[in-house]
Amino acid sequence: MKARKILVTMALPYANGAIHLGHLMEAIQTDIWVRLQKMRGNDCVYVCADDAHGTAIMLSAEKQGISPEQLIDGVKRAHQQDYAEFLIGFDNFHSTHSEENRELSESIYLALDKNGHIARRAISQLFDPEKELFLADRYITGTCPKCKTPGQYGDNCEACGSTYSPSDLIDPRSSISGATPIEKESEHFFFDLPQFRTMLQQWTRSGTLQDAVANKLSEWLDDDLQQWDISRDAPYFGFEIPGAPGKYFYVWLDAPIGYMASFKNLCARTDYKFEDYWSPESDAELYHFIGKDIINFHTLFWPAMLTSAGYRTPTAVYAHGFLTVDGTKMSKSRGTFVNARTYLDHLHPEYLRYYLAAKLGPGIDDLDLNLEDFALRVNSDLVGKVVNIASRCAGFITKGFSGRLANKLDDANLIASMQSAQQEIGQYFEQREYSKAIRNIMALADHANQYINDKQPWVIAKSAPDSPELQRICTTGLNAFRLLICYLKPVLPAMAAKAEAFLNVEPLQWDALNSQLLDHTIAQFTPLMTRVEMDKVQAMIDATKQEFNQNSSAVSTTVAVEDATGFEPEIEFDAFSRVDLRVAKVLAAEHVEGADKLLQLTLDLGSDKNGKPIQRTVFSGIKSAYDPATLVGRLTVIVANLKPRKMKFGMSEGMILAAGPGGKEIWLLEPDANTQPGMRIT
Ligand code: MSP
Ligand code: ZN
Repeated sequence: MKARKILVTMALPYANGAIHLGHLMEAIQTDIWVRLQKMRGNDCVYVCADDAHGTAIMLSAEKQGISPEQLIDGVKRAHQQDYAEFLIGFDNFHSTHSEENRELSESIYLALDKNGHIARRAISQLFDPEKELFLADRYITGTCPKCKTPGQYGDNCEACGSTYSPSDLIDPRSSISGATPIEKESEHFFFDLPQFRTMLQQWTRSGTLQDAVANKLSEWLDDDLQQWDISRDAPYFGFEIPGAPGKYFYVWLDAPIGYMASFKNLCARTDYKFEDYWSPESDAELYHFIGKDIINFHTLFWPAMLTSAGYRTPTAVYAHGFLTVDGTKMSKSRGTFVNARTYLDHLHPEYLRYYLAAKLGPGIDDLDLNLEDFALRVNSDLVGKVVNIASRCAGFITKGFSGRLANKLDDANLIASMQSAQQEIGQYFEQREYSKAIRNIMALADHANQYINDKQPWVIAKSAPDSPELQRICTTGLNAFRLLICYLKPVLPAMAAKAEAFLNVEPLQWDALNSQLLDHTIAQFTPLMTRVEMDKVQAMIDATKQEFNQNSSAVSTTVAVEDATGFEPEIEFDAFSRVDLRVAKVLAAEHVEGADKLLQLTLDLGSDKNGKPIQRTVFSGIKSAYDPATLVGRLTVIVANLKPRKMKFGMSEGMILAAGPGGKEIWLLEPDANTQPGMRIT
């Protein structure tokens, strides 16, 4: 088969913040796909860059007392370091603030203008008279004109949900200087998107997009297509528009051009040719991996710009959903807004790569990182299933046969059936059905483990440590292991490298799935992966909370209006009054087998209208502070109407209230001894 020429990008992270787990999900999804292509012998290039322009970066540099260039240089180094440690194999990582990008952006803009796709007209916007700066909606706060709640952002009210224009706000303020903004006119440049309606209606329906994405876009394409404002007035950190002093390209104009610029930068030091990939006649494939929040930039403006400027359009745009942690949006105060660096301080990068792969699909649904499930899954699959196969066979080969594998398998069928899965598993990876690929691979690992259980090499080794049968069984086991590593290599490149050293083989390519390892000397077995420890996960969460507490006064201007307390958003009294707090009496308290922190409590909550006793089972993380025997008979307070939650050890039907820093210092709330179980606390 002819090798495919493929160029892959992921979205360019903004240069004003650290890489976090959400960015990593995208990087990992893309990297797995690229590694698969490379393993299969395709010529696949993966480029990225920092997205270095815009008001936020300008203000952030100003606040730190450095130039924007200094800021983006430092951030770029940190970003590259983070991605490298997560084994993201970019062929190039560049910056949108680069000469290549300036030239390409200017030439593309000039082409759009020449083709009659740039319109110019004056618009009126809010302006900060102190900073002498036009204010984007997110830099304006004021009182909601509808419900009169203060402190609302420029375009919508978080309290009542109404939307409006920033000039409708009562007492609007610039969140940068605190000044009252004034209305001011200036000329803006627009990309005339409506001229591309027909082109886009076709392009978005030509198999380039996921169905869900194409459907969403078609609503827009059928009516609400607007001209796109691509200019910003000085002061702005970006590229000045040719022939328009004081006007700059809006960051989103030159950001996707950054994909081309990064590739062009790579071409300058390799044999790749820019035109081979970007001319309309190109036979190369071009894929953009992005998050669902930036779909319109990549599927409307971008293909239209490329078309006008005489370049090819993407082969496909692959959007993904958002990463949530323990069921909710990543949150700084809950400690789940985890930065790449903080993760790396506590946990191995391949744990995350594996867990995300095991859950990723091709669609735009959100993906939840459940921290307990994360530990369980990695431990049971990678340590318990995959590494286990090697560790159960390697020792006997080393001891009994000086590391030499047999020249014949004990069970050729097992190996043949594992090899024959390559078509299906390869397809799943190719279609970004990673969770299905992983499910198949783990089913193969189960077969291999079953085989070893049945053959019991350790029994044979006792009486005949050098028997040919033992050698053939362990050779079969290690061949199974080799195939599993080959399948998992796009996901776990570092573990695969260690396994290759142990097996004493060249780097595995996809076609290694067609061969066997016989009559070959392996190296000493070393543990390939250790277990995830839950206390390290907790330490990562604690560290994230800490970082946020330290930084909350110095966070970048985009979040300057965020409440410095770090509290959850305010709730109405009505929401609070729906929390049903009741007195509960502990009927029984027990240790939970396998749980480090939990006690299982059986609680008496009085009786219902018919006199029937109400009892609840609650799992509570108070083991470090309480001996269960001392709890029996005590009164405490329970949130009685909390939706039951399925936990690893069973259903928890409510939550008891306690406070304290943790460890031995946790105190259960204790109501007055005169209260009765079931009494409502108001
Ligand atoms: N700079 C723009 C992209 C320009 S591409 C020409 C941008 N940057 S970003 O840093 O905000 O986001 C980069 C990518 O990370 C986007 O694809 C975005 O969807 C993704 N994610 C950011 N948070 C995310 C999650 N919580 N989960 C998954 N992906 C998320 O947008
Ligand atoms: Zn309101």
